[in-house]
Amino acid sequence: MLIQNASWITMDRAASVVVPVFRKTFPAGSPVRSAVLEVTCDGVYEAVLNGRRVGSFILAPGWTEYRRRLQVQSYDITGLLAENNTLEITVANGWFRRTNAPWTGTRNPDEFLPAMLIAALHLVREDGSEETFLTDESWEVSESTVTLSGIFLGEDVDMTREPAFVPAITCDFPKSMLVPQEGPEVHEQETVYPCASFRTPRGEWVIDFGQNLTGYMAFDLEARAGERLSFSTAEVLDREGNFYTANYRSARSQLHYICRDGYQSYKPRFTFFGFRYLRIDEAPEGFSADRVRAVVLHSEMKRTGWLESSDSMLNQLFSNILWSQKGNYLDIPTDCPQRDERYGWTGDGQIFCRTATYQYDVRQFFRKWLADVRAAQHENGWVPEVVPSLTAYKPGGGAWSDAVTIIPWQLYQTYGDLSFLSDMYDAMEKWIAYIPTVSTTENLWTGCWTYGDWLALDAPEDYHPATIELAKRGYSNDDLICSAFYANSVSIVIHAGRLLGRDVSAYEALYERIAAAYKARFGGCLNTQTEKVLTLHFNLADHPQELADVLAEQIVACGTKLQTGLLGTPYLLHELSRYGHSDIAWSLLLRREYPGWLYSVSKGATTVWEHWDGIRPDGTFWDDDMNSYNHYAYGSVADWVFGVACGIQPAEPGFARVRIAPQPDPRPGSLCAVLDTVHGRIRSFWKYTGQGIRYEIDTPVPAEIILGGKSRMVGKGRYVFGEAD
Ligand code: BGC
Repeated sequence: MLIQNASWITMDRAASVVVPVFRKTFPAGSPVRSAVLEVTCDGVYEAVLNGRRVGSFILAPGWTEYRRRLQVQSYDITGLLAENNTLEITVANGWFRRTNAPWTGTRNPDEFLPAMLIAALHLVREDGSEETFLTDESWEVSESTVTLSGIFLGEDVDMTREPAFVPAITCDFPKSMLVPQEGPEVHEQETVYPCASFRTPRGEWVIDFGQNLTGYMAFDLEARAGERLSFSTAEVLDREGNFYTANYRSARSQLHYICRDGYQSYKPRFTFFGFRYLRIDEAPEGFSADRVRAVVLHSEMKRTGWLESSDSMLNQLFSNILWSQKGNYLDIPTDCPQRDERYGWTGDGQIFCRTATYQYDVRQFFRKWLADVRAAQHENGWVPEVVPSLTAYKPGGGAWSDAVTIIPWQLYQTYGDLSFLSDMYDAMEKWIAYIPTVSTTENLWTGCWTYGDWLALDAPEDYHPATIELAKRGYSNDDLICSAFYANSVSIVIHAGRLLGRDVSAYEALYERIAAAYKARFGGCLNTQTEKVLTLHFNLADHPQELADVLAEQIVACGTKLQTGLLGTPYLLHELSRYGHSDIAWSLLLRREYPGWLYSVSKGATTVWEHWDGIRPDGTFWDDDMNSYNHYAYGSVADWVFGVACGIQPAEPGFARVRIAPQPDPRPGSLCAVLDTVHGRIRSFWKYTGQGIRYEIDTPVPAEIILGGKSRMVGKGRYVFGEAD
């Protein structure tokens, strides 16, 4: 990359929070055949050539494990060139110089770096001559109109400010971590218009977009210089109908805009928000809500999965799951897009991964993020709880760090691409080699920190945990959880190793020892729903059918309610169905009361909530803390809908052959799943007709179709079955 020859440049100034804009003016010389701009920075940038934006990558260069991997973008700018050119590149804090959330208890040292830019502009002229402009002291820099910017803060803009350019200075900063752009770009995806504008009981002026989304507001207006416009964002209104922002915690999430004279339009350039509602805190007289729109942002990815039923609440849940993926696949897989986190929590990432691979083609998205997992992995083998890592660099513990094995394995299952396994194999091995170095019991994983069955509902009333963290993780045994995930990771390494032609005999022996130790230690004390579900899911039960029957009875005995948290929930319906209890799985899915997937739908949710009772039946909130309304983890139930309710299973990795074994239920009336695999489109539809069940199945590859216990082997094609078949 030519950029390796360029120098990092910055602004020589006393610390100022105003965002700098770098400038280079240059003549084209003679007609240009091609012009390419390579660029990156220690924040997020926007490049503008002759008044036109370069490319459509929002929040470039994205978020990576920056100190090891910083992506360089390469833009073809031939079409933007003029005879005399002005290139301006504004560099804001973004994720690189972000502030850490206060709860991390640490400052991010990179927060104190100055804004720095590095770029190379290469021209090839029609006459064959070439010229390269590299960032150096010939570039200029000025304070821009963006006076404050941050991922959590939002943006302050003063359009009355005039630039005052001075020479930029070069600075010493590494270039060894520069890598070519690997992930899909984040783009503006769609525009959502307000569905209502109203005054709250407190008198606030609020716009409702009808959809909780991730992106920013955009507006246009006619104004006089100095007039102000300010917006705050919120996901929900409180019980009284007032604007509610406490769940954002320390994330300010506002836009403050000072107008210039005349007609103008604006949208934030260096931040994003998670919101459904906007409060107009200040506006020039005559400003009206129909001047405002919401722009949805997420990483570029092609839709591959569709679900539809005859139950409108279920359809709303499907929509919520889709929107939670859109809202949280913004360059990295995040836990939530709104409060002072928006981090790549590894646990959440692995929990939702299978659903994610069904809804969208996420191959490139994960290729890039898994490269960051490798870069963030400690040399001892531990994987941080969030990737890209926080400066605190805490190990993730069981189920979180196991993302290093679970995600590549799932990608291989969905797409059949072995490179996900070969790329990650060393990292997987390092991870399972780390566990015995910290465990207090041989062949198990005990005595270590984990978030456990986070947010589970099964802690008894009289349970008084020592810390608030314990209160949030239910009653499942942490040692059991960690050991079950340890067994699973070793099993994945064995399967991946066999496919890659490695010698896995030592891992096979290790797995046998883990399974035996697990059964001996935990087999007799499987109490919570999650303990049973994990034991079943990871094939660690001596008598799985009996255990599944006990699980089913336990669920029915407590009113057909799930009690599971982040770790048990994704597998719960799968395990019930696997052992003949699909009726209970369906009851859990269709439950409209708390706790249940359709409860949040009944409360008007348009994305998946972090808590089953994020808003309680009486309209009060579960809590101000840890209360996201766009948290995809429980949306992982969609993979049960695709894979069990509609029955689409890969019989071979990548769906090269399929098994289609739907588990219908009369309550939703009908259900249809469409899945675009790398081998073509699979469709599985069923409908209760009055005379029985009609099935329609399309398969692009040979399939085994199993209906009512009867198996048929078919070639590719379209098949219709009535009740008589
Ligand atoms: C996140 C979770 C995450 C958890 C760790 C939270 O703050 O939002 O989804 O996995 O921390 O338990």
